[in-house]
Amino acid sequence: MTDALKVSGLWVDYRTKATWASAVRGVDLTVGAGEVIGVVGESGSGKSSLALAIMKLLPANAKARGRIEVLGRDMVGLPSREAHRYRGAGMTMIFQEPMTSLNPVMRVSEQLSEAVRSRGEHHKLEMYRADSLIVPGGRDPRFALGPERSAPPSKEAVDALRQVRISDPERTASKYPHELSGGERQRVMIAMSFLLRPRVLVADEPTTALDVTTQAQVLSLLLGLSRDEGTSVIFVSHDILVVGQVAQRVAVMYAGEVVELGPTEAVLKNPLHPYTKGLIGSIPSGFKGGKRIEQIPGSPPDILALPSGCKFNPRCKFAMERCRTEETSMKEMEKDHFVACHLY
Ligand SMILES: Nc1ncnc2c1ncn2[C@@H]1O[C@H](COP(=O)(O)OP(=O)(O)OP(=O)(O)O)[C@@H](O)[C@H]1O
Ligand SMILES: [Mg+2]
Repeated sequence: MTDALKVSGLWVDYRTKATWASAVRGVDLTVGAGEVIGVVGESGSGKSSLALAIMKLLPANAKARGRIEVLGRDMVGLPSREAHRYRGAGMTMIFQEPMTSLNPVMRVSEQLSEAVRSRGEHHKLEMYRADSLIVPGGRDPRFALGPERSAPPSKEAVDALRQVRISDPERTASKYPHELSGGERQRVMIAMSFLLRPRVLVADEPTTALDVTTQAQVLSLLLGLSRDEGTSVIFVSHDILVVGQVAQRVAVMYAGEVVELGPTEAVLKNPLHPYTKGLIGSIPSGFKGGKRIEQIPGSPPDILALPSGCKFNPRCKFAMERCRTEETSMKEMEKDHFVACHLY
């Protein structure tokens, strides 16, 4: 399988007050063409930072080091201007909070039509991120209000909305993002991704704002996109069960590092890292039928005060002396199943 995405030795540092702190710490990851890979971990483990680095959309106080090759091009060294050409047609991201990536003053139908127009071209498709927009007196040209009466939504736009199970697609198409619920906004983002038919799709918690039924529908739509169009999907979630439903491989992140990586079935049925075991054990319905559910004690470390040795050691009931002093590295335990843990 050709790699659509190859991340090697990636670090993401944030400047906070007087110092720098690393949110992503030496991540290596490849995603094949048409592969769905799940990235899972607790809040603060660096999932969004990894996703934003791949898209070259990190905020201004962040710095990425290492290599990110998307469709054979290095993204870290790519000037921001050129990175735009890769977003849109080549790669697209569904954000954790979709309001930040929809243009607040464009009707849904216009945004979908723009996606159709930019498909297949190396055309600049703006990503709207609320935290990166400065709007002095609302005069940012990107905020110029469109015509009051816009053209009727195109059939393709309406069909895309129907595909993501929006109940009244014609009416929704004529609305502005702020007139939609969180779940509707997320579905509009997903519809947009379908219209763009990207080669690489980064989906950061794309279904968190949805109810369970819609979540399942949207997941199967994402899977269909990958299967039919050969789209590679990086699917980010804090829920290892959701990831298990869609991903062929799973990467488990802890404190900015990938601590376990392997085929989904291997990781779920035979988790090796005590952290992965904890994540699976902490799912209420449980895989362990009948056994008492074990929660992971404590909470993830502050990236400004990481422990020495294995970053998980303060929460690990198997921690040995070596775990407190020596960093871990990935070892292949069975075919394609890697773990970074001193127990092995
Ligand atoms: N813009 C920023 N400036 C400074 N620190 C940041 C910034 N964004 C994220 N961080 C820090 O980087 C670490 C990783 O954050 P990130 O958002 O990547 O985690 P996450 O796994 O996506 O979490 P969640 O599940 O809550 O979305 C956290 O400690 C966070 O506080
Ligand atoms: Mg996140």
